[in-house]
This record gives sequence, structure tokens and C-alpha cells, in this order.
Amino acid sequence: MTTSFLGSPERARHRTHALTLAACLCLPGLVLGTVVAAHIWRQRQTPPSTRWGWSVVAALLFLYIAPAVTWTWPGQLLSGASFGSVIGCTIVEVLAGPLALQAITWLIAPLAHSVDPEHMAPAETPAATGAPEHAQEGTPTSPPHPVPESDASAHDRQPLLRLGVDATGRVVNIDMRDEASVFVAGLPGTGKTTTLIRLIAESLRCGWCVIAVDLKGSGSMNRAIHTVAERAAVPLYTVDRSDPHTYGYNTCSGDPTQVANKLVGSFDFSGVASVYQQVALDAVSKVAAAVQARDQAVTLGAIVASLQTDEMLKLGREAATASKHVPKDSPAYVDYVTHLTALSKAADKTRVLQEGLVGIQKRLAALDGGSFGPLLRHAPALEWEAILAAPSLTYLSLPTLASPADVELLGRVIIQDVKQLADRRLRALEPCPRCLLIIDEFGALNEPTQIIDLILQGREAGITTVASTQFLPKTPALLHALLGAGVVMAHRVASPDAEVLASQFGTVPSMDVATQVDYQTGEVTRGTVRRGQTYAIAPDRFRNLSPGHVALRVAREVPSLRHRIVRISPEEIER
Ligand SMILES: Nc1ncnc2c1ncn2[C@@H]1O[C@H](COP(=O)(O)OP(=O)(O)OP(=O)(O)O)[C@@H](O)[C@H]1O
Ligand SMILES: [Mg+2]
Repeated sequence: MTTSFLGSPERARHRTHALTLAACLCLPGLVLGTVVAAHIWRQRQTPPSTRWGWSVVAALLFLYIAPAVTWTWPGQLLSGASFGSVIGCTIVEVLAGPLALQAITWLIAPLAHSVDPEHMAPAETPAATGAPEHAQEGTPTSPPHPVPESDASAHDRQPLLRLGVDATGRVVNIDMRDEASVFVAGLPGTGKTTTLIRLIAESLRCGWCVIAVDLKGSGSMNRAIHTVAERAAVPLYTVDRSDPHTYGYNTCSGDPTQVANKLVGSFDFSGVASVYQQVALDAVSKVAAAVQARDQAVTLGAIVASLQTDEMLKLGREAATASKHVPKDSPAYVDYVTHLTALSKAADKTRVLQEGLVGIQKRLAALDGGSFGPLLRHAPALEWEAILAAPSLTYLSLPTLASPADVELLGRVIIQDVKQLADRRLRALEPCPRCLLIIDEFGALNEPTQIIDLILQGREAGITTVASTQFLPKTPALLHALLGAGVVMAHRVASPDAEVLASQFGTVPSMDVATQVDYQTGEVTRGTVRRGQTYAIAPDRFRNLSPGHVALRVAREVPSLRHRIVRISPEEIER
């Protein structure tokens, strides 16, 4: 049980009440000052450091004028003090109100945690979390000394990610172990990337792995990533065209079926085009298998070259020769030779097959010959299992401005890749460190519905997806998955999105006051008070949040902490 400066929780509560009563009787102006300060700070979401600043200024002014104050003036009023001096004293006392409020908040903070167990888990005092004291004041915090560990247990010891402070100055943590996804929305310049960097630094501190896909490539994330990895003392793996130490990215890792699913699954085949998807899946997996049988590395270039009918025939024959030891009636022989030969002959006669083959060949050729082609052929390439065996930071820079079509394709391949990784993790016997997949400027991927499965099923595999975007997705299934599956952090958003988010954040009970006015006299004749419902966070709040502030919704949280405005503490990054 937490004890406060005022004693045990029970005694402290009584003493707080007694002190409040005494203050009301002796210094009513001071009470008025605390009420006014609390109201203004709550309305304006004033950060704690600013509150302390104003409190001290007002208190100094109070001390300067204090000699003019008639202490305990209500008593003196009874003994005949003038009304004018009473008003003067009240105004002077009001100046001490803000500091009194800050002091009371500071004194009863531990008490609040001890008496209300619901409040303990999600938002703890700095002392409880081991955070430096100034974190509660909303000043930027440096991560404590890094704890590099190579097993999953590090996370279990420190599972809370510290985000910042809420309107009451309370440190806000989120427990991401149970969260499937985090959706970060916000117009340009509202602080999305800063929030993501905070999440990255905190996850590394907890002993997690982080994969950060930066679809802006040259912005603040690129600048921050080295410092964040260095501070957490974890290895940094980059896939970045402009980095001389870059790793390559192998789009063809895994068995032939996985290669086909990864490559073909990255393209849209909606409506009638789904038949072409079947053709493409079949052809790519058979070609990849035949290339493997020929003892050749499966690369995008090799697949593209073999997706022509005459090349397919040749590949089939070569694979058959290479696998002479394989009996002619075995499934492998059927796969390599019979099926491939049949497919190439059928494609010469059937239009759908031919179009399907040409379509996938052109699409893969565009990916191979695009601006990321050199990275796809670069060695050594990332190997997910190896780099995610211990806490690490992997940064993939895909600058969308220069080559949006290439970014869209490669970004989708990466999502497919992580999905396959999640599948392998689900079947793995050994525990692996939890992993955060961060996608900044997710909109550049043009609403990739491929990510929905990852959002809905990644949690069990220990992968939490974090996506940031400027506008809410238009595809309903994607929007529902992002808004419904986990944590939502909304920075300032555009008007239509504010309405959607406000309704998503839900309502809270309210009291509606209705009055009847007599039009002839202008007087209020009757009034009624009704129970009603109002937005937990109104659309207007979403439209007017200042940079670095988010409306946070954590669906698993207790009702009183489910929706809050939080000021994100930025990481101090050397620029
Ligand atoms: N938590 C914060 N505290 C203080 N300032 C912040 C915070 N977050 C963002 N800012 C300010 O806002 C600026 C923009 O932040 P950031 O780059 O994170 O926004 P963004 O939403 O990612 O923008 P864009 O859409 O252009 O990428 C920062 O340079 C910083 O000055
Ligand atoms: Mg950004």
C-alpha cells in the first residue's frame, strides 16, 4: 500500500478534507484561485512545467502584496472589516491559488494511486515506474540506462511503454503486450513521427525488437534512428539506398509457396482479376520450385526471366535433368516438369493463362527494375529470424516522394514478409522477443488490405503493428481493423476524420440542463436537468489539438482512463 506525505491513505484523506475546510474558512480567495486555475489548465491542457511556472510567478506576486492581506478575513468581517478590504483581500489570495493547486496535486498523487486500484496499472507515478521525477512535469525524458538483453524476459520485467503526461500531470504508460495494433493519425506536422520515435525508444528499453518502415525516408525518423539505437545499445540494421552500410532486401526468401504468396499477394487482384491471381500464384510457385531444383538461387530476376512460356519449357526440362534421381510419378517430378510444361503449353492456347502470366511477369519486372532493384540484389540481405532473435532496431527507408509506385510495391512485399514471419513465430517452440512493426506514412502504400490479417492475428505471434497516416483510410475493412483492434492515438486531424474519431472514441454520461425562458419578461421560468450522453472527446478537440498532443484511446483500459488527451514526451535527439 502506498503511503503519502500525509500518512496512511485513510488518515491522509481525512487530513486533506480538514485542510480544505480550514482553507475555505480562512482563505476563501485561495480556494477560488485553485478552482479557477484548475479550470483553465484543464481546458487548455497546460503542460505541468508551464503550470509550475505560472504558479510561482503568481505566488511571488502574492508574497509581494501579502502584507496588505487581512488574514482570516471572514472572522474579521464579523468584527466589522469594510467590504472593500474584503474584496481586495480576496483578489490577493486568488494569486496563491495556482501554487496551492500544484502543491495539493503533488501531495495527493501517491494517495490517488493507493486508494484507487483501477488507476494503478495504467498510470503510475514516476517513483512507481522508476522514471525520473521530471518526467511527470512533461519535460522531454531520456531513456534510462539501456538494458540490452537477448531473451524475451526483459520485456516481461518492464512491460509498460511511457508515452508522456495527461492533463492532470499524471505519467501515461501503455501495456503493449496485449495490444494487436496502434493506429496513429494526424495532419502533416502534428507530431506523428515524434510519437513513433517515442514508441520505438520505449520498446527498445523494454527489450523488444523494432522494425521501422519509413515511407517518407528523409524526414525526422531517418535523423533519429541512429541516436535511438545507440542509446538503447541495440544493433541497428538499415535498408537504405543512401546508406553505404545498407543491407539488401531479399524478396524471394522462403519456400516456393511462400515466395509466390509474398510476391503475388503484394498486388491488387480485385473482382474478375482474381482468376489472374490464381494463375500467377500457380506459375510463380512452380517456377520458384524449378529454379531451386536447378540448384540456382531464387531471385526476382530469375523468376521474371522464367515466366515466359518458352523459358518455362526450358526451365522444366533443365529441372527434370537436374532432378534425375526424382521418380517420374513423384509429386516433385510432377511439380517441376509435368506441371510447368503443361502450363507453358496451355498458356500458348488459353488467353486467361497467357494474360495472367504476362501480367505477373510485367509487375515483377517493374519491381525488379525499379528504383529499389539494386537493394533487392544487394548482399548480405536481412534475415528476419537472425536479427529478431535479440532486441534490435531494423530501419527500412523507402522514400515515397521519388518513386511512389516502387515504394507501394516493396512496402506491400515487406508486409507480406512480416506476415510469414508471424506465421513461423506462431509455430516456433522457442519464445522470441516481442516485436513492433512500425509503418510511418502508411498512406503511401495505398490502403494495403494485406495488413488486416497481421493486425488481427499478429498479437499472438508477438508482433504489434503500428501504422501512422495523415488521413483515415477509405477502405471500410481496413479502417475498422485499425480503429477497432487496439490503441488509437489521434493528433490534430481534418474535419471529416474528427467526426469519425469522436464517434469511435464513444460517449460518456452527462447532465443536460434545459431552461424555459419567458419571452415577454426575458426571465427563466423553469429548468430541467436530464441525464444524457456526450462525446468522450468532442470532434472539436480532435480538430484543435496542438502539436505533440494526442487523443489516446486504449480500449482495454478501465473506463475512467480509456480516453485521455496526452502530451507526448519527445525523445531528445541530436539533429
Ligand atoms: N511531442 C512533441 N512535443 C513537442 N513538439 C513536438 C512534439 N511532436 C512534434 N512536435 C513538433 O512538431 C514538429 C513536427 O513533428 P513531426 O515531424 O513528428 O510531425 P509529423 O506529423 O510526422 O509531420 P509530417 O506529416 O510532416 O511527417 C516537430 O519538429 C516538433 O517541432
Ligand atoms: Mg512524419
